[in-house]
Amino acid sequence: MPRAALRKPNPALDLDSWLKTPEDLPATINSQTLFGNDQPLEIEVGSGKGLFIQTESDRRPEHNYFGIEIARKYAAHAAARLAKRERANAKMLAGDATPLFAVTDEGKRIEDGSLDGVHVYFPDPWWKKRHRKRRVLSHDNILNFSRCLRVGGRLHFWTDVLDYFELTVELIAEIAPELGVPLPETQRESTHDLDFHTHFERRSRKMGIPVYRVCYRKRS
Ligand SMILES: C[S@@+](CC[C@H](N)C(=O)[O-])C[C@H]1O[C@@H](n2cnc3c(N)ncnc32)[C@H](O)[C@@H]1O
Repeated sequence: MPRAALRKPNPALDLDSWLKTPEDLPATINSQTLFGNDQPLEIEVGSGKGLFIQTESDRRPEHNYFGIEIARKYAAHAAARLAKRERANAKMLAGDATPLFAVTDEGKRIEDGSLDGVHVYFPDPWWKKRHRKRRVLSHDNILNFSRCLRVGGRLHFWTDVLDYFELTVELIAEIAPELGVPLPETQRESTHDLDFHTHFERRSRKMGIPVYRVCYRKRS
């Protein structure tokens, strides 16, 4: 189903503190370099319109949240939600998460064991073989998400695509056993129209489509 048109962010909002580009980023990405403090850092990959990062950064002000969204207009939309609320513990990057997590000849932008959480909600399944390399939960990204999590840190993965869910759970068991067993995450009743984890969760639940939710807690 195509995504609904996005409203343009209010031009009076100054997004500078909330919307970053890859060129703006420091060489090493951590709470100190992004937020100037040592709060635990959680990264959401593929934030879409930013409902999760908005609500979660409000619910847990003692953590920092960095949302990465490859589609610039969605990243700007999510950043505008944060700017409007003057949220001090959350920012958006308009860019691709994969190179940020990758280990390259130049080193690691995100250090081993430096993240408290990685959140991946409703990633595009990219079924065609030639497109599979675009999957956020690819072999290499899973290894890097795990590498970047501290022991006890969590990887959250929710989707409404059962085949993708099953394949990913199998892949994680095979290549990242340090993440342990998948722990189910429960569905919360919503109390108002935007009381959902993400916009895609809202859409699936309103359409009566089942949602599959797991969380991994890194063991070693
Ligand atoms: C299906 S949407 C889900 C959005 C949101 N998580 C939700 O549940 O409402 C997947 C999002 O991931 C973004 N995305 C895909 N690949 C990405 C990547 N490599 N880095 C950052 N964002 C990515 C897409 O642009 C899209 O907005």
